[in-house]
Amino acid sequence: MNQDQKKQQVAEAALAYVKDDTIVGVGTGSTVNYFIDALASKKDRIVGAVSSSEASTLRLKQHGIEVFELNSVDQLDVYIDGADEITEHMHMIKGGGAALTREKIVAAVAKSFVCIVDDSKLVPVLGHFPLPVEVIPMARSYVARELAKLGGDPVYRQGVVTDNGNVILDVHNLHILEPMALEAKINAIVGVVTNGLFAQRGADVALIATDNGVITKQG
Ligand code: A5P
Repeated sequence: MNQDQKKQQVAEAALAYVKDDTIVGVGTGSTVNYFIDALASKKDRIVGAVSSSEASTLRLKQHGIEVFELNSVDQLDVYIDGADEITEHMHMIKGGGAALTREKIVAAVAKSFVCIVDDSKLVPVLGHFPLPVEVIPMARSYVARELAKLGGDPVYRQGVVTDNGNVILDVHNLHILEPMALEAKINAIVGVVTNGLFAQRGADVALIATDNGVITKQG
């Protein structure tokens, strides 16, 4: 089974976590795109979705799924999203698609975070995938210097502007043994909007597509 087939398989498995008559929190990325396509099959049974990016909003609307503003919603039952890396402890790196800030906000409002990945994303230690950090543009050089002090090699993601009008620094060569502490430390740098470590709010459920089907892990 190739990676795309695994992404589709795990995206379809996530439908089991979507309750009737609810608003679904929807992430961003190629795996989530499969999820949105699958969600269309039960669009008459849900109220709609809250989206974490302009790209997902567009895809949801193309399927005729109503998209609500997060500010008009008190709580979401479930948030479904992919990840760039995930550990056995349900800590993740996200933001490969530059949507990390909105993803973290929508995830915070959800009772449950269901992470959908193929097995290439399961790692023993986070950091092989460069850690995305969303930064206010005028703070880019300052934040890069501060990130270097933490031991990483920040690289400006040229040509990318986030949905919030900010820029991304991808921090290479991190070996993240304490994800919760590093998440807090990076967020405390002035000029950082947020970083792609999802450790303080990790996943509650991980659905992992393998050659032998989808494995479920609980947090
Ligand atoms: C988007 O900003 C990311 O957090 C994605 O969730 C992550 O990059 C996974 O994307 P894929 O499903 O495309 O691998």
